[in-house]
Amino acid sequence: MYIPRMRPAATPAVTISPGGPVHGRLRVPGDKSISHRYALLAALADGTSTIGNYAPGADCASTLQCLRALGVDIRLAPSGAGGGATVTIAGRGPGGLLPAAAALDAGNSGTTMRLLAGILAGHRFDSTITGDASLRRRPMRRIVEPLERMGGQIGTDAGRPPLGIRGAALRGATCEPPVASAQVKSAILLAGLHAEGVTQVVEPVATRDHTERALPAFGVEISCADGRVEIGGGQRPAAAALRVPGDLSSAAFWAAAAAAIPGSAVEVADVGLNPTRSAFLDLLRKMGADVTVEQAGVAAGEPFGTVRVRHGAPRALRIGAAEVPGVIDELPALAAAACLGTTLEVTGAAELRAKESDRIAVLAGGLRALGADIEERPDGFTVRPATLTGGVVDAAGDHRMAMAFAVAALGAGGPTTITGHEAVAVSYPDFFEALESLRQPA
Ligand code: S3P
Repeated sequence: MYIPRMRPAATPAVTISPGGPVHGRLRVPGDKSISHRYALLAALADGTSTIGNYAPGADCASTLQCLRALGVDIRLAPSGAGGGATVTIAGRGPGGLLPAAAALDAGNSGTTMRLLAGILAGHRFDSTITGDASLRRRPMRRIVEPLERMGGQIGTDAGRPPLGIRGAALRGATCEPPVASAQVKSAILLAGLHAEGVTQVVEPVATRDHTERALPAFGVEISCADGRVEIGGGQRPAAAALRVPGDLSSAAFWAAAAAAIPGSAVEVADVGLNPTRSAFLDLLRKMGADVTVEQAGVAAGEPFGTVRVRHGAPRALRIGAAEVPGVIDELPALAAAACLGTTLEVTGAAELRAKESDRIAVLAGGLRALGADIEERPDGFTVRPATLTGGVVDAAGDHRMAMAFAVAALGAGGPTTITGHEAVAVSYPDFFEALESLRQPA
């Protein structure tokens, strides 16, 4: 049984003392998005796959737990620094999952719920997927509608989880999801693998393309051109031996801290550099930081390498709707960096309200509690430079809020106490230990 590493429940809050730069070299946990996809495709493959540096957080553990409940044999062996594990998955072949004895629990993980729904829509048995209180508030029509067009039968509670899936014979379709979402695109493509005929997804704005890179790594043919991804049903994924690069969305918090706090310099090695994820680094540069990127290689279509970030004189930045999908998970880190010294205006980002928490409201409320000048709008926010005081702030059960508040706390004048900080276990169980390591004298 895979038990994610959690902080002891007896630690109700963490207090961050202010002052000083961050500096040092580190690695971050394996990429969460890539880990989910490799595990799901390995379960659908013919043969046994191994996945090195599998993300150590609770979200990716939820995917493994669901797959086990669907009859998949999964073994884990620790694989060194960063808490990642090597996961060995005995594939059951496409359509080969078995009915689960009880409702599947996706925990806090939207990716688990949505991608698995695409897969189970084409398995000829009934399944239920539920999750924690946060996930049960998140919108699911965005996957239900396209999957129904393909012949899927999925019930919801007024558009929210739990999902009741009645497996059906799927047929290929052309889907144009109204929201720019890699989870929706991926759910459709995974359903398309189990459908008769060809399935196409046409994206309104490009989103992360890990599924498009992972499918060929498992021997599945797809074609991608002009914002259109096409998959032919009936293909059989083949087992693969893969390694997950570090998660750039986790590295983003160290990059943001280094960018914002004078005297800082941080180097993150072995981190994913997929161009649909790395726009954050360009934006950090536009905000004045000194950012260098050194690509070390490409594995299974995913580039990876080293990112170095140094503080630079802050500059104002605007981020609009067209850029938002490329930095959706890094906007909290950018907001935290901005509130320590520059102006950042974000628009067209209403999707932030549909994440693990309402990230616009929680960010605005939390950063303001620390003394920041932040104005909330329905589809974004504006941060203006202010002198942060520190204070008490709650992460609202959201891992990225806990980490964003920690970055802001580093640049505050007084101490900051973060309650609900244990939410970091969702993607970065050792986040606070890594933070301390970056504050040690060189
Ligand atoms: C993810 C896609 C994004 C992102 C999430 C992970 C993925 O969500 O916010 O953390 O792995 O596909 P949406 O695709 O819903 O925007």
